[in-house]
Amino acid sequence: MIGGILMILVTGASGALGRLVIDHLAGSPAARLAEAPGDRLVVAGTRNPESVPAGVPVRRVDFDDPASLADAFAGVDRLLLISAGYGEDDEVIARHGAAIDAAEKAGVGHIVYTSLSADGDHLTYAPAHRWTERRLRSGTARWTILRNGLYAELLATLTPVEDGRITAPLGQGRLAAVARRDLAEAAARVVADAAAHEGRTYELVGEEAVGGADLAVLYSRITGAAVSYGPGTLARTREAFTALGLAPFQVPMLVSTYSAIAGGFLGRTGGDLRTLLGRAPRSALEVIAETVQAGSPA
Ligand SMILES: NC(=O)c1ccc[n+]([C@@H]2O[C@H](COP(=O)([O-])OP(=O)(O)OC[C@H]3O[C@@H](n4cnc5c(N)ncnc54)[C@H](OP(=O)(O)O)[C@@H]3O)[C@@H](O)[C@H]2O)c1
Repeated sequence: MIGGILMILVTGASGALGRLVIDHLAGSPAARLAEAPGDRLVVAGTRNPESVPAGVPVRRVDFDDPASLADAFAGVDRLLLISAGYGEDDEVIARHGAAIDAAEKAGVGHIVYTSLSADGDHLTYAPAHRWTERRLRSGTARWTILRNGLYAELLATLTPVEDGRITAPLGQGRLAAVARRDLAEAAARVVADAAAHEGRTYELVGEEAVGGADLAVLYSRITGAAVSYGPGTLARTREAFTALGLAPFQVPMLVSTYSAIAGGFLGRTGGDLRTLLGRAPRSALEVIAETVQAGSPA
């Protein structure tokens, strides 16, 4: 707290989720947040300060540079720790561990962490999230865990149409896909009113489970041309991603996402999102349609 003003720092502020959270916290009327904006200072934390819109206070935050985090977190009351999930588990765990260590040392009172839905335990990227949750629960700061489901925008990217056909290996599985914007709004609401959410773990998945056949119908409607769904194999998909020259950790990450959807592990709808938003979540199919029409991958 500086001069009676509550300081909220949002990490990952140049990422897609972080930018949307900042929009909400910085006073979007749609956010209808619990506290008056004048009572608090929202600070964007990022490795890329130049990418933050003018007028938003910014601090350089890079979890890979732990020595810099004492200054970054000085005076911060509440931290929204957006997962920095691109890397091998040991890299991600080191990042999140450094961030929480530094936040505790700086006296941050409450850490809100964007994790992964419980149904995501079959994904290769689950362990780093679960490690971070455990670290928060055994730490000294108050905490709230937001277990985010997979984005509808991500599903749009994972299911391209080629020659009128979707061949993504989703089997007959479905994903309880969730709009990134809804997750951002939920995170903004929670961090703005953190005491009400202390020690809570929320499951934030969508209310509409979407599978390959649903996407074929949707894409036919959007494009005006017939699109069919004929799932390929995980082996073919792994080969194709490997041939693209992705980083080694990315290939199993993507393949496990298809595999978990196809296995029926990510289709459970419901959870806490409606309660946190105070309204129905956005339709996953509508978000996918918007994403495809805008040509903007997740
Ligand atoms: N639920 C899902 O479907 C889904 C999909 C993809 C990813 N995710 C996870 O959710 C997070 C946020 O999603 P997003 O849509 O905003 O992804 P994004 O647009 O790719 O953003 C990646 C984020 O990681 C942060 N980051 C990376 N390395 C960092 C480091 N060394 N120190 C601090 N921050 C670091 C970036 O922060 P700056 O660039 O601002 O420093 C950025 O906010 C991702 O990082 C990932 O862990 C979830």
